[in-house]
Amino acid sequence: MKFGVICVSDRCSQGVCEDKSGKLIKEIVSSLGETAAYTVVPDEADLISQAIITMCDTDKVDVVLTTGGTGFSPRDVTPEATLAVIEKQAPGISEAIRQKSFEITPMAMLSRAVSGIRKSTLVINLPGSPKAVKESLSVVLPVLPHAVETLSGKTVSCGGNY
Ligand code: MTE
Repeated sequence: MKFGVICVSDRCSQGVCEDKSGKLIKEIVSSLGETAAYTVVPDEADLISQAIITMCDTDKVDVVLTTGGTGFSPRDVTPEATLAVIEKQAPGISEAIRQKSFEITPMAMLSRAVSGIRKSTLVINLPGSPKAVKESLSVVLPVLPHAVETLSGKTVSCGGNY
């Protein structure tokens, strides 16, 4: 499985702080595959959208994971930038992440993260903190192999998978 990781952060893009969450995502997903593309972008909708397009259309990764910019701050625009470039929404993924995360912290309801499909790539927004990344990925990781398999068109039936 090929992953693309996008850190959305003004401060990380300026080199003011280290992208700990992107690094953590790469570590966690290494159990399922390789991170074939990685970038850090500021909280600018056009740049976020463009990074997603490049990873889906040029790098052709199976899954794009963004981290950061999903909250209520004036500069948080990752969900809007994602919705602008996905072709189908996959709300169940973000709903499941929020539901499980809410059992850990009520702050989970402050994430506006979305998930969806562009061509044959699944795009998932994750919140920005390493803690939130770890908690969110633990929810979604088990379904990724089947999600990617069905996206590729190879699976004709889900029978026996649940
Ligand atoms: N989800 C989990 N699992 N764990 C967390 O600690 N923090 C929340 C939320 N989702 C959190 C979480 C907080 S405090 C915020 S503000 C929102 O994610 C948005 O985060 P972001 O703006 O960094 O994307």
